[in-house]
Amino acid sequence: MFEYVLVFLLILIIWNLLKKPTQYPPGPWGIPLIGYFPFGLKAFHERIKELQAKHYPIFSWRFGSKFLVFICDFKLAKEVLNNQAFADRPSFSFIKVFDGEINMGITTSNGLTWHNIRRFTLRHMKDLGMGKSKIVSSIQREANELVEVMKKQSGTVAPVPHEMSTAIVNILWQMVAGKRHDLNDAEIISLDKDMNEFQENLGHLMVRDFFPWVDYVLPESLLNYISKRDMYRKLTKRIEMRFKKDIEEHIATLDENNPRDFIDEYLIEMEKQKDDPDSTMSERDLLGAIADMFAAGLATTSITLHWSVFYLAKYPDIQKDLQDQIDSVLPNGLSPTLEHRSRLPKVEAFFTEILRHSSLGEFGLPRTTPKDIKFAGHVIPKGAIVFPCEKYIHYDKKVYNSPEIFNPKRFLDSEGKFVNPKEGFIAFGMGKRQCIGESLARMEIFIFLVTMLQHVSFHPPPNKDVIMDNINILVFNIPHLKQDILIKSRF
Ligand code: HEM
Repeated sequence: MFEYVLVFLLILIIWNLLKKPTQYPPGPWGIPLIGYFPFGLKAFHERIKELQAKHYPIFSWRFGSKFLVFICDFKLAKEVLNNQAFADRPSFSFIKVFDGEINMGITTSNGLTWHNIRRFTLRHMKDLGMGKSKIVSSIQREANELVEVMKKQSGTVAPVPHEMSTAIVNILWQMVAGKRHDLNDAEIISLDKDMNEFQENLGHLMVRDFFPWVDYVLPESLLNYISKRDMYRKLTKRIEMRFKKDIEEHIATLDENNPRDFIDEYLIEMEKQKDDPDSTMSERDLLGAIADMFAAGLATTSITLHWSVFYLAKYPDIQKDLQDQIDSVLPNGLSPTLEHRSRLPKVEAFFTEILRHSSLGEFGLPRTTPKDIKFAGHVIPKGAIVFPCEKYIHYDKKVYNSPEIFNPKRFLDSEGKFVNPKEGFIAFGMGKRQCIGESLARMEIFIFLVTMLQHVSFHPPPNKDVIMDNINILVFNIPHLKQDILIKSRF
């Protein structure tokens, strides 16, 4: 009898230890180490949709050994993103270029290292022309070169030329390392390819993020097969060597009185701070910052431009309307500058609607918290991975009329002026971790869009439609990048 009571008590204790604490946000809990695990990506997304519908505005999911919290309401997401307690990023390899290195660069570092490098980068991006006109000429040049490539493709059915992406690499590279390449240069194509490969393999990288214990239980070969660890190491080594070479060249040719670019500025400041015990500056930190700017600034901008081309081809009336406004403000193909933004509100409204409708980040970039926090009537436990549901927020019927319809006019007022959304829009995040490249990205997209629309038009291939559904690679909603379109020269 005594043994039965003991077994019963033991089961009770284990049950209590394993069950989900009641104060946590609602959602599936599953079993220890595995969590709740639906097989297949489709099942994952369908389950998320069900949970959003059932538990709006906040729900949780224990996935692997991580506790995920999803925030689907704009006001709550704003509260979380602006809250200092949620300013940290989790140490996830899928948002980290250099595996295993914890406090490095901007996107995944935390604490003083993050604070210092973010502040430094923002300041120097401004000095280098972000938000001002200095970088405009470099963006104009890349846009013009891209248009020349597009004109050559005119009349043929083919995918968007790869130069759309290498042009963005060029802008970043000029800002960071003062280098410009031919859009077909082998080095620039290979960097673009490496960055794409990194992104395409995010799913594999995530295995070790969510199931970190696999490192200890799986044989090396199986671990490699599932997580593509060796491929990832080779890839990041290549990226590292490339940027290291740039840093070394800059050290060898540095003129303290004449900084040329971001790397020079960093090296000069690092030297100034060399005796400061609070300095977090190092060549490693610089390497991380450069890699982050490419990782965060390349695919995002290039994918948004690809989406723009597909939306233009899909909606010819919107395309024509944009061209009419552009032609009247910039006759004879005059180059767009930042001053034209307020005079081309339809363009601003168009790409804001693209950012909303396509919602590149399904769940934004994750945040985490170093302590238990009471939030929205629940407890968010220490170490939880918190995701703002970007797409859900961008499709909230309380904020947007018929959100599923692509309608740039929703961002124009009765006088046709652009109205920047204050509610229900988090394409660039918010708060202390808000995207540092927003002004640059907006500038690039504006100048590329106007320049392209001045010279060419986009159409679906004859007797075909443009594919508008997205390929969801877990955190990113990307279009069918390789689909064919028809480009026609306007003149
Ligand atoms: C259409 C283009 C872009 C989109 C949609 C985008 C979106 C985002 C989002 C959603 C975040 C997370 C913000 C948060 O947690 O609240 C972010 C962070 C970041 N973005 Fe962007 N971004 C774009 C372009 C760029 C560019 C051009 C750069 C740099 C050259 C850049 C650099 C960064 C960096 C470094 C972070 C991390 C900031 C931190 O953790 O402190 N992004 N971006």
